[in-house]
Amino acid sequence: MSETVAITIDAAEHHVAPGISVASALLNASVASFRRSRGGDARAPLCGMGVCQECRVTIDGAAHQRACMVTVAEGMRIVTATSAEP
Ligand code: FES
Repeated sequence: MSETVAITIDAAEHHVAPGISVASALLNASVASFRRSRGGDARAPLCGMGVCQECRVTIDGAAHQRACMVTVAEGMRIVTATSAEP
């Protein structure tokens, strides 16, 4: 297994530990806003176990993926509310 996995977070390349969740990778990269509420408020992980839906991001073009339930993979492209339209 590789020592790190290369992923892209909002167009910036990051090297993260294999086996961690996308939510962990985003938090480690200091991403504060995973998505926006309908009112435009920044949202971030709450439950960490796939229930609250607050951690949804776009992964490899698929919108509304729960970041806490997806494991990082080589070449994965993640878009958060930091760069996406609300
Ligand atoms: S943090 Fe609650 S669903 Fe991901």
